[in-house]
Amino acid sequence: MKKITILAFLCLSVFTINAQQLKSPDGKLEMTFSLKENGVPTYLLNYKGKSVIKTSSLGLELKNDKKSLLNDFTVSDTKNSTFDETWTPVWGEESQIRNHYNELAVTLNQKETNRLLVIRFRLFDDGLGFRYEFPQQNNLGHFVIKEERTQFAMTGDHTAFWIPGDYDTQEYDYSESKLSEIRPLMAKSITSNLSQTSFSPTGVQTSLIMKTADGLYINLHEAALIDYACMHLNLNDKNFVFESWLTPDVQGDKGYLQAPSTSPWRTIMVSDDARTILASRMTYNLNEACKIEDTSWIKPTKYIGVWWEMITGKSSWAYTDDFKAIQLGVTDYTKAKSNGKHGATTENVKRHIDFAAEHGFDGVLVEGWNEGWEDWFGNSKDYVFDFVTPYPDFDLVGIRDYAKSKGVKMIMHHETSSSVRNYERHMDKAYKFMKENGYDAVKSGYVGDILPRGENHYSQWLINHYQYALEKAAEYKIMVNAHEAVRPTGIARTYPNLIGNESARGTEYQAFGGSKPNHVTVLPFTRLIGGPMDYTPGIFEMDIQKFSPDNKSHVNSTLANQLALYVTLYSPLQMAADFPEHYNKFLDAFQFIKDVALDWDKSVYTEAEPGKYVTVARKAKGKPDWFVGSVGGEQTRTSTLKFDFLERGKTYIATIYADAKDAHYKNNPQAYTIRKVLVTNKSTLSQFVAAGGGYAISIKEAAREEIKGVKKL
Ligand code: NOJ
Ligand code: CA
Repeated sequence: MKKITILAFLCLSVFTINAQQLKSPDGKLEMTFSLKENGVPTYLLNYKGKSVIKTSSLGLELKNDKKSLLNDFTVSDTKNSTFDETWTPVWGEESQIRNHYNELAVTLNQKETNRLLVIRFRLFDDGLGFRYEFPQQNNLGHFVIKEERTQFAMTGDHTAFWIPGDYDTQEYDYSESKLSEIRPLMAKSITSNLSQTSFSPTGVQTSLIMKTADGLYINLHEAALIDYACMHLNLNDKNFVFESWLTPDVQGDKGYLQAPSTSPWRTIMVSDDARTILASRMTYNLNEACKIEDTSWIKPTKYIGVWWEMITGKSSWAYTDDFKAIQLGVTDYTKAKSNGKHGATTENVKRHIDFAAEHGFDGVLVEGWNEGWEDWFGNSKDYVFDFVTPYPDFDLVGIRDYAKSKGVKMIMHHETSSSVRNYERHMDKAYKFMKENGYDAVKSGYVGDILPRGENHYSQWLINHYQYALEKAAEYKIMVNAHEAVRPTGIARTYPNLIGNESARGTEYQAFGGSKPNHVTVLPFTRLIGGPMDYTPGIFEMDIQKFSPDNKSHVNSTLANQLALYVTLYSPLQMAADFPEHYNKFLDAFQFIKDVALDWDKSVYTEAEPGKYVTVARKAKGKPDWFVGSVGGEQTRTSTLKFDFLERGKTYIATIYADAKDAHYKNNPQAYTIRKVLVTNKSTLSQFVAAGGGYAISIKEAAREEIKGVKKL
């Protein structure tokens, strides 16, 4: 008996000595750090007294090292602190962001090696962030990560919206399933891509959104991914424990680090209200403050482009079909004949500039303007583009001057074809060339397998490349929109010239066979958590065969849904992706795209359920105008919108762009209605949403004379 009591006391005292608790500022989240008997660090997380993350191990396995950073630790110090600040983003969903958390920093000492490891926890009202810190010390200099061993132990077989874990692409449709169904669904979920490397039948990507049986929403992601490999999650589907799985380099190593340094933050958002996940700014808050002193050149941008015609196969990026292979500086394009399908001709570009100027767009993107597209992918070619030499039918100077005369900015396109060393070799020259020719923004792209061969899109080497390209662009005052780069992790707080990323399945897939109609109801909970997406909405003609006869793809969305995306998928960079001639057919609906703001004072999520619907109201920055977007999924529904976000006592005119009663994403996508009504902050709208549909509203303060004849809602 005595023995048992002593043992119990010992266990308790070991536990109590090491256990450290941390509460969120509102007290709803509670994190406990403790060491297991063998010195393995662990944490657990509760929300309103309910378990969210069960006891989960922390640590890193090192390569060729005397000992990994996994066990044998004692706690040598703990520090608690509180932080509360409000900062002003250069652009965003709000003009002010509160960063409020309680922090616990645990310093661990590994007995055998006498190495120090700090684990820093920050607990916000909407979630937990933690990271590993490797302080400067004599016993830890350079080290190689074999694998990070961070666990996220789920409490059950939750429903997840997931895409396959992959070292090279995120361009997948989401699968909705129980965690236990990931394995049987994996093969079917891996659709083809020009570069892809899956690694495990239960591997998934972040940002991952889950829903528990008792209605909790949990999001797993990372913040501030700098000089480190991108993290995936590998699920043990017997006990529902996720473990970090870093992207390897060509040698299979997962990171070369040196003390002092830190890992990115591992983030767990939790709420019983899905809207809180969308409104969370935790990912940005875990990034460092803006490092660009003068940000006056960073401008939210609405643009059109010579783009959709290539994506749909109507025209080509390449100038000629004469050559099977070309060599820059050797191939004489002036002797080649045009294939008659080249999109980036001077005439076509000027037509787009005219349209942009007429409708008040800021910019025009042109792809396929430069030499090299004839054999640009699939050949592992190193010197694929030089980023400065236009095709013979693209009059760069003439176009530059024409755009300038019309007050339109040209947007540069740098497809690297994933020949990354080549891009770095040419980057200074390419950025300089841009500035000399009036280009302030670049869309870059990383299609195909990476060169140097064997590297992956999300390995540490590439993460460092994307960062290098971004910081170098900032030196030149250039805004960046990188496609096929790693999914963002809030880095735009530090470098707000990162105005867009693709890094998910964008509109282009509507022309590559179509996306699921509910895709856009998942993206805000997943991909957009880390930063804005260049989704390229605004498709009005859903039947692609009408203008590109060999392409049988159908755009799985109604026209009203396309309008709503400008509000639901937040981005300071928004494209109107369809052709001028299609917009000319629907000028009344196009008006919404022209009017919608790109930068906001405030965002109010009014309805949200992953996979089903998202409705958000946003107030234009520095203006009294509001815009609302609502998107639905596969099922028709009725959305209820209370206008209580409007200023009390004021009357507004709301123009509602909605699905017609008989609209459907498949067989009647262009059926929409537009109506004007008067609203106040007491009004409530009950609005029909078609399958694959949505609605968009622009709300303006009504002048007395405008009110006449307009009915109340
Ligand atoms: C893939 C990008 O996502 C797309 O927008 C672009 O047009 C092509 N690459 C060509 O660069
Ligand atoms: Ca892409």
